[in-house]
Amino acid sequence: MKDFAGKICFITGGASGAGLGQAKVFGKAGMKVAIADVRQEALDNAVEELVAYGIKREDILAIKADLTDREEYTAAADKVEEVFGGPPHLLIQTAGVNSFGPIEASTFDDFDWVMGVCLGHVVNGLLIFVPRMIKAYAHKTEFHVATTSSMGGFMAGPTTGPYSAAKAAVNNLMYSYNEALKPYGAGATVLCPGNINSNIGDAEKYRPAHLRNTGYHVSEGTMKTLRHIHAQGIDPVELAEILKEGIEKGRVIVLPSRNPEAWAAQLRAQHEIIEDYTLPAPEREAKAAARMAELMKRFSEGEEGKDAPPPSRWGVPEGGEPFGMARKDLDWVDPSKRK
Ligand code: NAI
Repeated sequence: MKDFAGKICFITGGASGAGLGQAKVFGKAGMKVAIADVRQEALDNAVEELVAYGIKREDILAIKADLTDREEYTAAADKVEEVFGGPPHLLIQTAGVNSFGPIEASTFDDFDWVMGVCLGHVVNGLLIFVPRMIKAYAHKTEFHVATTSSMGGFMAGPTTGPYSAAKAAVNNLMYSYNEALKPYGAGATVLCPGNINSNIGDAEKYRPAHLRNTGYHVSEGTMKTLRHIHAQGIDPVELAEILKEGIEKGRVIVLPSRNPEAWAAQLRAQHEIIEDYTLPAPEREAKAAARMAELMKRFSEGEEGKDAPPPSRWGVPEGGEPFGMARKDLDWVDPSKRK
């Protein structure tokens, strides 16, 4: 997709972080932007920020909806058509939440919340919007679907289970849609950032009341540490510009850098790790140790680029606590993983 001006863009999670950056960039490109988000106050602030950024108030539509709820999502889709006169030409699904803890300590609530937002709302949006987009635009004008996934979709650690599972599924979905939409003259893009300067570190604050039975240790201190890490991430507007360029060039995967080779190298390393899972344990463990030593050497030499700070700068700040631990009362969880 190359022409954006005068067209309609629907951005989920558009009240904050990466989604708000996308609203700024695609709004500046002349699109009418609908931002859908679960937080009304954040939406109100986002509208003012977009107006201050130079986007016309009449080209902005803010919709409050819990997009994991299919009825609410459908109502949001109807609203865009009613106000802007049609379904989006560009659907960008960016809403997301994260919660860290040992995967074996996860509860159904942990899975339902993280996978519900990171994967469930994406499925909802694709099923609700894509048929409408095809009917309205196929063979008439360009249209496109995009999703904000994560580098976490290519790799999984012991404390990112539901998130990595959701993001890997989202990546695969977007590869499917890219192939499926070709006969209609459209395509799909998945944005896979590493670290974004956003508000996701505070996501636990608005975890829905009915999904609050977590197996993880969550506190003001863990959120402070996450805020500290995300403050070092890529700027959302810069990230959105990289996404726009990726959509214009027809990339299916967009990596969050002006230097994609650095990230492509990381992708290749991740694929090697997956290949290594086929090896016998001793051989695999030896390769893993060597790889980690090499990675640490590269990080300490600062080769990783500004949007991927080395783990040393991701340490626990003053007043913070380590995240990724289990609740202390889960006495069957290994003590080294409990807080
Ligand atoms: P953010 O917290 O600043 O923005 C996410 C937005 O999603 C929030 O405004 C939130 O209210 C909204 N949201 C959450 N649940 C929702 C629901 N049920 N319905 C509607 N809206 C909902 O976080 P950020 O970082 O900008 O997140 C955007 C995307 O980027 C997410 O998909 C996240 O997984 C992804 N990402 C973030 C990274 C980071 O370092 N912050 C790294 C890689 C990917």
